[in-house]
Amino acid sequence: MAKKKTILDLYQMKETGEQAVWMVLYDACFASYAEEAGMDMILCGDSVGMIVYGYPGTVPVTMDVSIAHAQAVRRGAPNTYLIGDMPFGSYHISAEDAVKNALRFYKEADVDAIKLEGGVAVADKIRAIVNAGMVVFGHIGLTPQSSAAMGGFKAQGRTAEAAKAIIEDAIAVYEAGARCLLLEGVPEEVCAYVHKMLPIPVYGIGAGADTDGQVLLAADALGMYKNFTPKFAKKYCDIAGVATQGMADYIKEVKEGQFPTPSHKYKFTGDLEQLDAVFEEMKDKFKK
Ligand code: KIV
Repeated sequence: MAKKKTILDLYQMKETGEQAVWMVLYDACFASYAEEAGMDMILCGDSVGMIVYGYPGTVPVTMDVSIAHAQAVRRGAPNTYLIGDMPFGSYHISAEDAVKNALRFYKEADVDAIKLEGGVAVADKIRAIVNAGMVVFGHIGLTPQSSAAMGGFKAQGRTAEAAKAIIEDAIAVYEAGARCLLLEGVPEEVCAYVHKMLPIPVYGIGAGADTDGQVLLAADALGMYKNFTPKFAKKYCDIAGVATQGMADYIKEVKEGQFPTPSHKYKFTGDLEQLDAVFEEMKDKFKK
């Protein structure tokens, strides 16, 4: 079994040019597949709100929900670098609140790092969490928690002026002490500049290939989420198709009497005549 990575391994990978690969998932079952497949990192993302709970966005996700899912992922992947995702509202009120909630991820879900969205606007919260001894991954560009303010899930930094704001956010996150940065939904050229400029690992989701690694949601990459697939996601298999077909086959077989077969049944090891006698006795009692 591969040794669990540390932040130093992530820096070493950047140094040697090895791409780090992470996936976003939310439960023990899929976490165990990721660990077996050799995933470098898992993000237990607040996209759980959309994928598992069916909300239209990530805003309703709470700390308690995030912690429960991070715990499940940790149980399924005890040897994989795990990042907890701070949900909307868990780090916006005060630096004290941000530290308190980040600590919950560490104490209750045994995470290796936390991630939070935003740049200049949340730099003081990043600094406070870092000063408390935790590892912070910044997340800028298309930040789903503020999709309402952005007018939807839209790519960011597509003009020189908008790119400047992304670069300012990247610098603020780095200067606040974040150890890694995730860029989401920005043109490759913009990500390339940030990657060139910052000494910390810069990862991308929908940010092109000029990065230190890539992230995808399991829901997109494995074909689980049917409502929407972002332009940048590649589908490596079709779980929704396989699962729907499996369910249809199950329904058909039960209705047609083809399931269960003898191999799916437990054997009675007692005396069948005695069983009959028990049945007769119980039947009489039941009638009374
Ligand atoms: O919650 C999530 O899925 C994320 C990814 C978009 C990186 O934050």
